[in-house]
Amino acid sequence: MPTIPHLLLATTGLALATLASALPAQGSPPAQQEVARGKAVFARHCAACHGRGPGDDGSAHLPGTAALAARYQGSLPGALEERKDLDAETLLYFVRHGSGPMPMFRKTEVSDADIGSIAAYLAASAASVRK
Ligand code: HEC
Repeated sequence: MPTIPHLLLATTGLALATLASALPAQGSPPAQQEVARGKAVFARHCAACHGRGPGDDGSAHLPGTAALAARYQGSLPGALEERKDLDAETLLYFVRHGSGPMPMFRKTEVSDADIGSIAAYLAASAASVRK
């Protein structure tokens, strides 16, 4: 029959195993997770304006992508997912202040951590663009 010390040991072992499996999620998440998270945040808050267009009918109904393509005239891509120059600090500035027709986002909508994840996603997606 199980003695109390045995039960205690088993419980402690379980608690340690649980703690160990929970630890990686507390520090900075592994790069892949960060990218996946950024992709989801981008899809939810940014892609409606900054997706890779144009749409099915050929019209550029992506105001962000269209505005940036017009501004940079080919010196930089219109789609944010193809930009290699957007670090978290730059994104933070635009996301918190907005720009022209682009709205600003509050921390309760898009957190600083979300913006870091978007930066990781944009870097990964830009790196995978074939030139
Ligand atoms: C309602 C449409 C809309 C949404 C949503 C939107 N943007 Fe924008 N964004 C724009 C437009 C339009 C511009 C160009 C602004 C201008 O002409 O001043 C822009 C500009 C930017 C720029 C500046 C790039 C440059 O080179 O000047 C960044 C960075 C940016 N957006 C990031 C984001 C991110 C990240 C999100 C999601 C959190 C987002 N935007 C959501 C419309 C949008």
